Amino acid sequence: MKNIILLFLITTISFKCFADEGMWLPQLLATLNEKEMKKMGMKINARDIYNINKSSLKDAIVSLGGFCTAEVISDQGLILTNHHCGFDAIQNHSSLENNYIKNGFWAYEKKQELTNPNLFVSFIINIEEVTSATLKGVTTMMNDKERQALIEKNIQQLKNLYKKENWQDIIVRPFFEGNKYYLFVTETYKDVRLVGAPPSAVGNFGKDTDNWTWPRHTGDFSMFRIYADKNNKPAAYSPDNVPYTPKRSLKISLKGVKEGDFTMVFGFPGRTNEYLSSRAVKQIMEVNDPAKINIRHHALAIMKDFMIKDESIKIQYAAKYATIENGHKKWKGEVLGLKKSEAVDKKNNYEKIFTERIQKNEEWKTKYQNVLPELRNAYDSIESYSRARDYFNEIVPKIEIFSISGELSGLTTAYEKGNSEYEKKKAELIQKLEETFKEYNKAVDIKLFESLIELYINDQKKEFISKYLSDKLSFYQGDISKLSEEIYSTTGFTSFEKIKTILTESPETAIGLLKSDIAFMMYEDMVKTYKSAVSPKINEFQPLITRLQRNYMQALLEVFKEKRFYPDANGTMRVTYGNVKGYEPRDAVKYDFYTYSDGILEKYKPGDYEFDLPQDLLKLYKSKDYGMYGVNGKLPVCFIASNHTTGGNSGSPALDAYGNLIGLNFDRVWEGTMSDINYDPKICRNIMVDIRYILFIVDKYAGAKNLIKEMNILH
Ligand code: ARG
Ligand code: GLU
Repeated sequence: MKNIILLFLITTISFKCFADEGMWLPQLLATLNEKEMKKMGMKINARDIYNINKSSLKDAIVSLGGFCTAEVISDQGLILTNHHCGFDAIQNHSSLENNYIKNGFWAYEKKQELTNPNLFVSFIINIEEVTSATLKGVTTMMNDKERQALIEKNIQQLKNLYKKENWQDIIVRPFFEGNKYYLFVTETYKDVRLVGAPPSAVGNFGKDTDNWTWPRHTGDFSMFRIYADKNNKPAAYSPDNVPYTPKRSLKISLKGVKEGDFTMVFGFPGRTNEYLSSRAVKQIMEVNDPAKINIRHHALAIMKDFMIKDESIKIQYAAKYATIENGHKKWKGEVLGLKKSEAVDKKNNYEKIFTERIQKNEEWKTKYQNVLPELRNAYDSIESYSRARDYFNEIVPKIEIFSISGELSGLTTAYEKGNSEYEKKKAELIQKLEETFKEYNKAVDIKLFESLIELYINDQKKEFISKYLSDKLSFYQGDISKLSEEIYSTTGFTSFEKIKTILTESPETAIGLLKSDIAFMMYEDMVKTYKSAVSPKINEFQPLITRLQRNYMQALLEVFKEKRFYPDANGTMRVTYGNVKGYEPRDAVKYDFYTYSDGILEKYKPGDYEFDLPQDLLKLYKSKDYGMYGVNGKLPVCFIASNHTTGGNSGSPALDAYGNLIGLNFDRVWEGTMSDINYDPKICRNIMVDIRYILFIVDKYAGAKNLIKEMNILH
């Protein structure tokens, strides 16, 4: 009896889907979530969020460049996203003379807006389930290759038959590890111009020290504008394009939120893994995350050293540094959170209940009793190779002479295909490398090489190490600085000019020179070693894991019928909802849910790399002239809630119970970054910047009244 009660308790605890958890498909809200959303405080209907027959909130939400979210906030195609999402664009327009990273950028007229050749936004027009059409003819007897080939054929057929306008695209994606498929009709606009960005002292205030932490005081926003052709349809950049007229733009509320208020976040979360086995979680926690953390720790220390001393290196390496640091810090938080929330034990408990349930049902038993033991074996087999893959993927691209070698090796392949391929590739490459070298510094690269190659050599089993590299190193008796001296004084890959000179030679000579370059030879041997010692095993076990995980997911859906499942994030449009609330991460530590500009002044450190403030901003905060953006003499800056978000949700709108814009999602709290694997409602919180702080900066700091005027602000 005791056991039964205990089991009942575990079952209800583990499988109760907490209201805050989940990234839901917008077209299914009406059936799965609406009731609960209303109970939590929502005042609109699911049909106001997603509707294909008339304009709804979804028509104001776009995927930005495939890596972030943005939302339309005016009838002239103005969109809002994070500073760190627009950062590449901001950086590309920046120089020492026009330092938009440091000083910000504002277009006071449309003709001052700046074009961004590679940036695009995609709207979602329609979402439809296509599982049966996609899996038509697929049987359990098929091997992975046959299965995949048939699925691809089915998808192609679906795409051919599906009715769409000629400016639209169709995407079909697997959900629940390939147990379901959905089709998306999209419209992609490719003329997206930079409109405004605050100085990084606002947009990235607190930098890496504050990243992934609460309390936060960052105004992480930037603004762009979508341009369309004269018919409001997608078009490549043209000076004749006009601002896009949206089907829907968000209304802005200056009311703010109280503790307990309903909020939702609407966007394009990238990737989560909520249904892994305990064995998989253990590997992430003990092997993969620590490997990646260690490598990045070394790379960051070197870059930072240079960036602090040299403003031009700081501009060159700012985006790279931020990207590397962001993952580094997140994984550190993830490992801590997984340990603290006892994620492996929790998963073990699920698995125990799962096994007990299937033992009681003959059909389930036949279908599913091997899936967990087989997953365990597969992870045992892949573990060391998976670590070697992390080492290769983390180390090689961070050493620029190797990533350049990678580009150039594409040219040698083109050369073998014939002259026209070669010339085409060469032209592409020259363009690309010109960009690469704008963000390259030889001294930094040398130090990166020395530090990361030391890890590559010392931290790995011999079979995973390039023999060419280790022989060279033995020649110098293990002295890496001697080796780097030889490489960096001989290779032709340390400047754009040198590579261009090589490439102006005849194809034969150029290819000969490339192939005999020391960096190229070393790179090729590292790749060769990886391809012979690591890839075959990864290629053997990864498809097996994918298949077992699909089978396990199918089993979960079937065995835990009482649970409401949401699919893992996969870059498609989702809605997550929760309530505004603080949290208590540790004994006696309690976090409030709002921050104010007083906190900016508390954190201010003159001359500091992360917490300095320009004089004009300092004066502005001190003046307390907050206008309509302040409350009770204070200026709200950021707030937190229990919305379940992940990378890709950056730039997503935070909406109130009426669907009005109240903030901009940009981060999660340190204790809760493990929510990608194990969401815990007690400590997982998303961080949003208050829309009033954003408007305060646009209005009172930048004086961009033109932008305020075109927004629909509710009074
Ligand atoms: N952690 C946030 C995200 O994952 C913000 C990253 C940008 N800020 C930074 N300091 N790197 O994107
Ligand atoms: N900053 C993240 C992004 O770039 C969002 C925060 C998160 O991962 O939750 O998407």
